[in-house]
Amino acid sequence: MDLHHLFDRNVAWAQQKTRDDPSFFVRMAEQQSPKYLWIGCSDSRVTANDVLGLDPGEVFVQRNIANVVHTSDMNLLAVVEYAVEFLRVEHIIVCGHYGCGGIQRVFEDKRSALVDHWLQPIVMLYRKHRAVFDALDAATRLDRMCEINIEMQVRRVAAVPTVENAWAKGRDLTLHGWIYGMHDGLLRDLGPTLSSLATRDALVSIDQRVLDPVEPSSGVRRHAIEAFAALGEPGPRNF
Ligand code: CO
Repeated sequence: MDLHHLFDRNVAWAQQKTRDDPSFFVRMAEQQSPKYLWIGCSDSRVTANDVLGLDPGEVFVQRNIANVVHTSDMNLLAVVEYAVEFLRVEHIIVCGHYGCGGIQRVFEDKRSALVDHWLQPIVMLYRKHRAVFDALDAATRLDRMCEINIEMQVRRVAAVPTVENAWAKGRDLTLHGWIYGMHDGLLRDLGPTLSSLATRDALVSIDQRVLDPVEPSSGVRRHAIEAFAALGEPGPRNF
């Protein structure tokens, strides 16, 4: 089976872009200057540009299954270095999503595939705190692990030498932990928000966060509540 339909869609897309903005591709051919690095899940429903409402050129992207930050992942480390050192991004956003299939697999005790090895940091966290997670109903447990995984990966980004070096030099670089709800299209800011070595070092451990889940009430969350209230609709789930 050929994929001509994808080329047809590509041509239609390029034509529409040019109609809407005749200089669009002229600008795109120049140097990119994104302000954000997005580290997200490979899930086909969570595309950074769409979720953020950004055009091509505005966000640098790294995605993998369950948005995991492995300390020896050369792909991710090179992306972080390029984004921070050369593109000079000011924000690194680790964004997971509710209902993540990778996270769900952690609870299924499967050990045969490469993906299970990939998910090992989350599996280890689950095993360590199994009593806490298993006390929750299945849906809440999945939501909670999706959230805690993001917090864990933000801590791991904060330990990448590129990030430490940027902070040591006084660079303006902030790390964020967000989660996307596919059921309502909204982002929630989970924290932590880290902008220096001092803020990182003051952070409680991920184990502490599992045992004492205090929900932060962020500006992003308040904004979403107000936006839904203005529409006369009940607030989305998880607010
Ligand atoms: Co996912």
